[in-house]
Parts: sequence; structure tokens; C-alpha cells
Amino acid sequence: MSNAKSLIVGNWKMNGLRADLKEIEAVADSIQQNSFNGDVVICPPATLAALAVDKTVQSPLKIGGQDCHAKEAGAFTGDISAEKWKDLGAEYVIVGHSERREYYREDDKAVRAKSAAVIRAGLTPIICIGESLEERRAGNTLAVVSEQISGSIPEEAKSSPIAIGYEPIWAIGTGLTPSIEEIAEAHSLIRAELEKLLGTSGSTTPILYGGSMKPSNAKEILAIDDVDGGLVGGASLKSKDFLEIIASF
Ligand code: PGA
Repeated sequence: MSNAKSLIVGNWKMNGLRADLKEIEAVADSIQQNSFNGDVVICPPATLAALAVDKTVQSPLKIGGQDCHAKEAGAFTGDISAEKWKDLGAEYVIVGHSERREYYREDDKAVRAKSAAVIRAGLTPIICIGESLEERRAGNTLAVVSEQISGSIPEEAKSSPIAIGYEPIWAIGTGLTPSIEEIAEAHSLIRAELEKLLGTSGSTTPILYGGSMKPSNAKEILAIDDVDGGLVGGASLKSKDFLEIIASF
């Protein structure tokens, strides 16, 4: 365990309809009764986010966005700014998810600008990094991850909270996960890089593991030093699985 706050984040991606809000309510009710020492966040699609905030406002469950625009407002059809997420009642925004980096060609510079926007709005960015299978096979994992850290984390992170999501791209949605040793190695490198870049706040920045985390492997992964929580995709869609992951922490 590091000195960072514990954080479990469910990323619903482009999944979920109004009928699925009951899953969010079930998580909210459960964590209210069995208090969790840290933050639990669900990032539903934008269409459900306001409804989710209304339904969970009395509970400790927090709602987050999955992405944002770097500008505050303007003619950007279809986009949502960090200030809009703040206005809605969100507390976190995921930025630089590998699906955004891959399908929308978001590079470190874009991720850095979005991260700065989230901080500017007074929210916490969950900045995602992680290597591809080719990069891992070529032995470049640690070099890729260090480059993403220095490229994606903005100056503002020295004085405002951020979280890091380490998600090996080949583990996302595939059922594959790195070995415990591989996760431990990546997280300890990320911790060292954060301390180099951010000074003392680098030692209290939560570093989340993401990629096929599920009830059957969460306990072992969450017990690793410098794993301060999880970024959970598929297994966050059903409250039963997500609550099992939370309980295993
Ligand atoms: P997964 O997704 O848990 O379905 O692998 C994780 C993520 O992409 O955040």
C-alpha cells in the first residue's frame, strides 16, 4: 500500500441505457451501507450522467466523465468541456483512455491539454497510459510508460490532485492480464516517475490498474504495492461484479 487514496473507477464506455441506472443505484446503496475507505466512481455514458448524479447525490458514490474537450466552451459540436462536467456534478474525468488515443488519434499533447482543463475546472483527471502488445514484446514497456507520463501530465498537477490509470492496451477487454510481477514492475516505475515529476505529491497520486480486472483477479492485483485501485470496464456494468471488486480491496 502506498500513501495514496484508494480509488475504484467503473468505466461504462458506450454501454448502458436508462434501465441500467438501477446498477448505479445498487452500487450507491451498498457503499453507503458498507463504507469504503477511498472513492468509488462510475463514469457512465454522457446520456446517463445527469440522471446518475440525481440518483446518487445522497450517497458517497461519485460520478465521472469518460472524456472532455480542452476548451471551456464554444463551437465544438458533440463535445463536452470539463466545466460542463463540473456543472453536472461530476468529480472525476477520464482522459487519454487508449480507445481515445487509438480511435481519435489523441496524442500525449492532447491528453495533457485535457488533463489541464479538468484541473482548471476543479475536478480530478484520471490520466490513462499503457503499452501495446508490440511495445511489450519489443521490451519497451517501461520506456513507453515513462514517455507517456512526462508527455501527458500537465504542470498544474504539481499543485492539484490527479490519478493515473495504468492500462496495458492488450489487457483491455481481452480477459488477458499481465502477471503480478509485471504489474508490480510497471506501477513501481510509474511511482518513481511521478515522484520525479511532481515531487511529494507524486507519492500520494493514486495509480490504478486497468485491463480485464474482475472479481476473480481483483484481490491479488489490488494487494500489489503501488496499486491504489482499479479502472474497471466490463466488470463495472453489473453492480454485483463491481461490488465484489470493491469488497475485495
Ligand atoms: P476492461 O476495460 O476492464 O473491460 O478490460 C478497462 C478499461 O478500458 O478501462
